[in-house]
Amino acid sequence: MGLKRKRGPILSIPDVKSQKDKERRYREQDLPFGVYTLQAKTKWWNEIELQNVVRQLDLVDGGRLLDLGSSDGRLLEYVHKRFPRCRLYGIDFAMNPLKVLTEKPFPSFPVCGDVCELPYKSESFDGAVSIQVIQHLASREERIRCLKDICRSLKAKGHLVITVINQKKWSDLVKNGKEGLLGNNENLYVYLYDPEDLSQDLSEAGFKNVKIVGINNLHRNYLKRIKGSGVWLDLFLTRYLRSVSLQKGSYLLARCTKQ
Ligand SMILES: C[S@@+](CC[C@H](N)C(=O)[O-])C[C@H]1O[C@@H](n2cnc3c(N)ncnc32)[C@H](O)[C@@H]1O
Repeated sequence: MGLKRKRGPILSIPDVKSQKDKERRYREQDLPFGVYTLQAKTKWWNEIELQNVVRQLDLVDGGRLLDLGSSDGRLLEYVHKRFPRCRLYGIDFAMNPLKVLTEKPFPSFPVCGDVCELPYKSESFDGAVSIQVIQHLASREERIRCLKDICRSLKAKGHLVITVINQKKWSDLVKNGKEGLLGNNENLYVYLYDPEDLSQDLSEAGFKNVKIVGINNLHRNYLKRIKGSGVWLDLFLTRYLRSVSLQKGSYLLARCTKQ
């Protein structure tokens, strides 16, 4: 695969810090992400991303899973229903959504902190997940730092499952088609990954066996009409038509391992 990068203006380090602070304050005030997705998208659309992520998890009973940028823990709740004995950890820099997580009726270990400076010992987790988070870290250095820290915190046989917005589908989200402020929302920076640069960043951070597919291939208005059966159609596209899903999927899902 070619490694051509369409780069937009790179933010200098002080800008990255203030951008991070803007996002943190925005996430404190906005709806918790799980509530937001349920209000803004169809139930089925929401389900597809979670189903795809959980299918890629290789958890042992009682294993430890870390969700980076967990918000209100919609993923951890979903995992708990399928793996009730797993120990579930969440980290997010926004306190309010984490409070929602602590009130949910399942045990979890939430921490308020930065995903670029993980407060965990090396080799602590069997698996790590991050849904639509690293794309909001406002420089490549920060994104690589975060990925390296995840790799450090995984056990030798640990794995990471990550999703990001697919640049091939959503290049019109930012002015230069690659990175910048999301639409009119100056609080949210986004870097739009394509399969090539996502694979490159994961490898540079030390991950092996990187596999990438596109998920949420069907348009959500279409899914709303066909309801539950659309989930299976979407999973079929993801599983068997990888080249189509890399172009059509709204998000990219990467699975990789530490060793
Ligand atoms: C798009 S939301 C996704 C939330 C959650 N992963 C989900 O799918 O429900 C991004 C989340 O990442 C968190 N986040 C962004 N940058 C972060 C950072 N540097 N450290 C910790 N959390 C961060 C935000 O507070 C927000 O909750």
